[in-house]
Amino acid sequence: MLSHSLSEKALKQVLSSVTLPTLTNKEEKVFLDRLDRHFPELVSKLHLLYSDHYDFFFHLQSLINGLATAFSLRKPELKIRDEQRLLDPTWYRSEKMLGMALYVDLFAGDLKNLKLRLPYFQSLGVNYIHLMPLYQSPKGDSDGGYAVSDYRKVDSTLGSEKDLEDLADAFSEAGISLVLDFVFNHTSNEHEWAKKALAGDPEFADFYHFFNDKKEVDEYNQTCREIFPTVRRGSFTYLEQSNKWVWTTFNSFQWDLNYSNPAVFNAIADEMLFLANIGCEGLRLDALAFIWKEKWTQCENLTKAHTLIQAFNLCLQIVAPAVQFKSEAIVHPDEVAKYIDKNECQLSYNPLMMALMWESLATRETKLLTASLKKSFDIAPDCAWVNYIRCHDDIGWTFDDDVASQLGINGFDHRRFLNQFYTGRFDGSFAKGVPFQENPTTGDCRVCGSLASLAGLEKAIISGDTQMLDHAIKRILLLNSISLSIGGIPLIYQGDEIGVLNDHTYLDDEFKRDDSRWVNRPAITEEIVNLAKHATSPQGIVNRQLKQMIAIRQSESVFGEASTQILETYRSHLFAYSREHKNGEKLLAICNFSEHPQSIPSSICDLLQANQVFDLLTGNDISLNQEITLGGYAVLWIKKLEIGTVNEK
Ligand code: GLC
Ligand code: GLC
Repeated sequence: MLSHSLSEKALKQVLSSVTLPTLTNKEEKVFLDRLDRHFPELVSKLHLLYSDHYDFFFHLQSLINGLATAFSLRKPELKIRDEQRLLDPTWYRSEKMLGMALYVDLFAGDLKNLKLRLPYFQSLGVNYIHLMPLYQSPKGDSDGGYAVSDYRKVDSTLGSEKDLEDLADAFSEAGISLVLDFVFNHTSNEHEWAKKALAGDPEFADFYHFFNDKKEVDEYNQTCREIFPTVRRGSFTYLEQSNKWVWTTFNSFQWDLNYSNPAVFNAIADEMLFLANIGCEGLRLDALAFIWKEKWTQCENLTKAHTLIQAFNLCLQIVAPAVQFKSEAIVHPDEVAKYIDKNECQLSYNPLMMALMWESLATRETKLLTASLKKSFDIAPDCAWVNYIRCHDDIGWTFDDDVASQLGINGFDHRRFLNQFYTGRFDGSFAKGVPFQENPTTGDCRVCGSLASLAGLEKAIISGDTQMLDHAIKRILLLNSISLSIGGIPLIYQGDEIGVLNDHTYLDDEFKRDDSRWVNRPAITEEIVNLAKHATSPQGIVNRQLKQMIAIRQSESVFGEASTQILETYRSHLFAYSREHKNGEKLLAICNFSEHPQSIPSSICDLLQANQVFDLLTGNDISLNQEITLGGYAVLWIKKLEIGTVNEK
C-alpha cells in the first residue's frame, strides 16, 4: 500500500485538478468523506496494477472524475438506500432472503410483463431477483446475452431502458433486490469499442488482446483451459479482416477485455456505475476468474484479478455502497474462497455444494459432501453464499481432488461416473441429462438438465411408476432443504419451483443447437405454470412443499445470521449440519441421501442441549430415547422444544 502521506498528497492533487459536478453541500460532504476513506486503498490497488504506465496519474484523475459524475447522477432514493445498507451491512444474511434467477423473455415475455408478475414472486417469498443479461447483444447467437454490445441499452425485444427503470422502481417498492449481470471479462464483437478496434483505431486496439503471431497464441493455449472445446479449440479467434488473433475465452464473438490497460478499467468502471445507478443491489461478476492474463499461467484466478475486483469494489464503496458483488467463480473450491471478502465479493455462488449435492444423490453417499464442506463451507461472517441447485449453465464437477483421494475416490474416474450417471449412460440412473462440451482430448465433460429432470421426475412421469415419482419429488425437496437452511441466500432458478422438465426445442434453433445448456432454459409458459396449480400433480406437490419450507425458513432467525457447522454423522447416507444464531437459537438438520430408511443415534441431538426436541418441518416431536430414523430421502430440521410453547406447525 502507498504510504498515508503519499496517498493524501495524491488525493489533494487529484482534487485540485478535477472539477466536481454541482452537488449540494451535504452531498459533496458525503462524496468527499467516502473518497477520503477509500482513496488510499483505491490508489494502492491501481498502483499495483498500473504504476508502470507513464500516464498513471492521468487515468487516476479521469477515474475520480467518473466517480464524481456517477455519484452526482445517483438518484436521491438510491442515496438513501446506500446509507441504510451501510447501517445494516450484513442485510443479505437475513433468513428472509430468497432469490430467483430468470430470463425476462422466457419467464414473462418482456420487462413490462415481468412487472405484472410481482404477485407471483411475493407469493413465493422471493425478494432477490437476478435478471439474466438483458443488454443489447448480437442477433442470433449471443451466448444467452453474455455477449454485450452496449451495457446501457436494453435488448429491444425486452423493452426499453425506461421499462427497466420502472421495473427497478417497482422491485424497490416491493422490497425486492434487483441483481444485474456485470459481464466485464469480455464484450461482444459488436460493441463500439470492438468495432473501433477492428477498424484500426489505436486507442481501442488496446482494449482487447490482439496478436499478430500465431506462435504466441499457441504458447498461451498451452496453459489455458478450454472452456467451449466443442465450439472451438483454444482460447483465440483468427480475424481475417485484420490478419490478427483476438483473445476469446468463450465464444468467438466474445472478446476478452485487456485490463492491463488502465483506460479499460476506467471505461468499465463507468459502465458498472451506470448499472449500479439503475438501482440494482447486486452485480453478478460474470466469469471473473478470467479477467487477468499472464504468459505461462492458466490465466485464471491470478492475484491481479483479485486486485482488479477489489479496485472496482472500492469504486462502488465511494459511489453506490448499497450494491454488493456476487462472484461467479466456478473454479477449484480453494480459488472460489479467495474471491469472498467484504472488500472483494460479499456474495458468491456455492458451486462446490451444488455439485456435491448432485454427487451425493448419484452415489447415495455423503462422505465427499461432508468432507468437502467441512473444509470449504466456512466463509467470513460478513459475507454470504448464494446457494443454488441448478442455474442456466452446466454442472461442472468441481471438487478438491485431494479431499476426494483421502476418501479413496479418484477424481478423474469419479467425474466420469457422474457424467455417465447424469447423461443416461449408467444403468439404473434416475436422471435424464445431456452432456455439455465433451473434450475429446481431456475426456472432460459437464452436464446439463433441469433440476426436475436430473432428479428423476422426467423418467418417473414417463414410466408412471408411483414410487419413482415419490422418490423424484423427495430428491427435489431434499436439495432445496439444504439450499434453504445451511446458510446463505437460496437462489431458485426459474421454473425449478414448479418442477419444470428439460426442454429439447433448442435443437430446432440453429443458434442454440450446439449449446446444450439451452435444454434448461425453457420458456415458462402458462401451461407449465398451470400444471403446478393442481394439488395432486407432481409439479403441484413440489411447489406446495417448497413453499412450506420457504415459509419456515423465513420465520426462524436461526436460518439467517447464524454460524454453520458441518457434522460427521458416521452414517454413509446421512448428511448433517447445525446452525447457531447469536441469540443462542440452534438447529440441527439431517438429510438422508438414500431411498431407504436410515437411523442415527439420538445423541446427535446433544448439541441442541434440550430435553425435548421436535422437527420444524412436520411439527412432530422427536424422541430422544431411541435412535432417530429417517425415511427414504427424508429431511429433519430439529429444534429444541421450548417448554410452555405449543408447536403450531
Ligand atoms: C458465465 C455465464 C455463462 C457464459 C459465460 C461467458 O459463466 O454464466 O452463461 O457463457 O460466463 O460470459
Ligand atoms: C463459466 C465456468 C465454466 C462454465 C462456463 C460456461 O465461466 O467457469 O465452468 O462451464 O462458464 O457455462
